[in-house]
Amino acid sequence: MSTLVIGGAGYIGAHVVRLLLERGEDVVVVDDLSTGTGERVGQATLAELDVAAPGGQEALEKLMTERGVTAVIHFAAKKQVGESVAKPAWYYQQNVGGLANVLAAMENAGVSNMIFSSSAAVYGMPDVGLVQEDIDCRPINPYGETKLVGEWMLADCERAWGLRWAALRYFNVAGAGWPELGDPAILNLVPMVLDRLARGDRPKIFGDDYPTPDGTCIRDYIHVLDLAHAHLAAMDYLEGDAPLAEHIFNVGTGEGASVRQVVDTLGEVSGLDTTADVEPRRPGDPPRLVGDPERIKQVLGWKAEHRLEDIIRSAWEAWQVGPRRIG
Ligand code: UFG
Repeated sequence: MSTLVIGGAGYIGAHVVRLLLERGEDVVVVDDLSTGTGERVGQATLAELDVAAPGGQEALEKLMTERGVTAVIHFAAKKQVGESVAKPAWYYQQNVGGLANVLAAMENAGVSNMIFSSSAAVYGMPDVGLVQEDIDCRPINPYGETKLVGEWMLADCERAWGLRWAALRYFNVAGAGWPELGDPAILNLVPMVLDRLARGDRPKIFGDDYPTPDGTCIRDYIHVLDLAHAHLAAMDYLEGDAPLAEHIFNVGTGEGASVRQVVDTLGEVSGLDTTADVEPRRPGDPPRLVGDPERIKQVLGWKAEHRLEDIIRSAWEAWQVGPRRIG
């Protein structure tokens, strides 16, 4: 019996792989190594494979059968909003096509359990304080659309052949559970600020005239290690054959932090001057996006253990072991 982690060499996937190995599970990682790296998967078996490519389904089927896979955790996807706007068809090929290959392989190989990485991007620009899972989803970019379509595909496979699934809608993931597993990409606020500081530049704040207390956007920052634990809770939930009451879960803290709070906390943790330049608003940024974590607490018994300062401190420590440490 083993767990197949697709995209397990990436930032979030590698954290889940490490936790699965710690609890003594047999783990097979599939990754195309386009953004992830092999050393992140530790003792897990690594197969280099692009699941969205022609032949991806057949290769997966073979691997699932040979390794006695009983559950799949599917992280592999493209995740840059701007890029998805520029290359929508490619995003659908990668994210929707990749998932379709995985699900077809699971059906043929008789693998019934799937955890899917969804995103708060499915919500778009909701005008509510705390976002609940069953509000109307109105994604505002192809990236968010591909994640929503992914959830629909899972529900369809449940109806057709009994797939047991959970989709985790991640809010703003940051930090590191182990310093060597920090976020290698410079795509999100925390690494972007660290990257600017490493270059001797000032951090940028995209807009300080939003209708929020300090004028900057509010997000729900979730520690990557807490998020990884949510996957294990979801795996346990899918095991057995009890009917599943819910499938879709926000993974957030229920607490918002503003861009300015994040930048200030980075200054406190690092001792650096994080005085920021205020730039114009970035198109498509909702003023506030904070998830209601009640459902995941009730159904999976999971809640976030780490607060903003822990997240920022661990991100800072991870940055210090990386190639562009500061000081
Ligand atoms: N920001 C800055 N300066 C920076 C970088 C970001 O002010 O240098 C601001 C952004 O404008 C935004 C906030 O910091 O207000 C957070 O930005 P991120 O890019 O870190 O994250 P987003 O909330 O825009 O995006 C995240 C995920 C996406 C997902 C989206 C919606 O990274 O994958 O949430 O759920 F699509």
